[in-house]
Amino acid sequence: MTATRLRPFGTTIFAEFSALAARTGAINLGQGFPDTDGPPEIIDAAIAALRSGRANQYAPAAGVPELRAAIAAHQHRRYGLDVDPDDGVQVTFGATEAIAATMLGLLEPGDEVLALEPYYDSYAATTAMAGASLRLVALRPPEFVLDADELARAAAGERVRMLLLNSPHNPTGRVLDAGELAAIARVCVEHDLVAVTDEVYEHLVYDGEHIPLATLPGMAQRTLTISSAGKSFSFTGWKIGWCSGPPELVAAVAAAKQFLSFAGGTPLQRAVAAGLDDAERHVAPLRATLHSARDRLCAGLRAAGYEVCVPQGGYFANADLAPLGIEDADAWCRALPGRAGVVAIPASAFYAGADTARSLVRFAFCKRPEVIDEAVERLAAIAR
Ligand SMILES: Cc1ncc(COP(=O)(O)O)c(C=O)c1O
Repeated sequence: MTATRLRPFGTTIFAEFSALAARTGAINLGQGFPDTDGPPEIIDAAIAALRSGRANQYAPAAGVPELRAAIAAHQHRRYGLDVDPDDGVQVTFGATEAIAATMLGLLEPGDEVLALEPYYDSYAATTAMAGASLRLVALRPPEFVLDADELARAAAGERVRMLLLNSPHNPTGRVLDAGELAAIARVCVEHDLVAVTDEVYEHLVYDGEHIPLATLPGMAQRTLTISSAGKSFSFTGWKIGWCSGPPELVAAVAAAKQFLSFAGGTPLQRAVAAGLDDAERHVAPLRATLHSARDRLCAGLRAAGYEVCVPQGGYFANADLAPLGIEDADAWCRALPGRAGVVAIPASAFYAGADTARSLVRFAFCKRPEVIDEAVERLAAIAR
């Protein structure tokens, strides 16, 4: 019964593999969610908002004023970006809804969206919902560096209207550098593209620096910047996200978003506003914890014989199974809960062509040290 345009996408791999973890009791290094809570102060702010008697009804469609002000202030303080808290911010149900509303609000049927491959799975599905499609530019293992010539060639396509960038990048963990971003900005200006950036891992960078594309010359007026509280504060279940940018782009997102979920999560929006006002203090310990979790997982996998691509940011590290003589990571991941009591995601889920990156596996390291150690021990046992 599912509509033709959604049929190719099935159930997301994350839901499928998290269900597998729950069914088998395996350690879940698949879906990217932390196994510890975010800052207690932000939880207290949510409880206070719930009990305030002023936060349990619909929020304004754009989001509660405190959160819009906090987002604009954060963009200015951290990146020097000028965002209008009234016309330049739209709060959404996670970055996921911001991405969907962006595609539905800005694209025409037949449009193409330039995106990096591998890519977060909702990009292809939401683009398809808008009757548009992705035009992909590869980030190749093990370094996952952008090839500026390949990007320029892809951007010359007649139907390309938008560029969708995700940095820090899921699933590779690449944090694009100033040179790569300059190449991206160049093609956006040259071909008059709208740029949409998914920056949900903006605070979780361990090597390098996160530079929002909107800060590059000529980009602020054409860039819609998406982020969310899920990864920055370890509240992935709250689903408070947002986008910010020029009013005409934000208005297009709002036009679609109002008919998707209208507005909700009012008390959580208020709590996230309090969190964002003090984002650097809240995020610094999380970043340090994740940095050491990254090192722990990568060192452990390496010692066990896996070839690891060390990520610069985000929640995930990729390992290549080919040196272990394994070419089909999808089959390996499906058997892994039974063999080793661990769940991981085949990286092929993030590629349009099933044959690409067939031997790559993505592991989440946003887990407690003892969980990572146990998972690594189990993965070592089957690699021997
Ligand atoms: C690159 C990327 N974008 C968006 C999302 C979704 O964010 P949210 O949970 O805020 O909807 C995720 C979650 O894993 C992600 O990795």
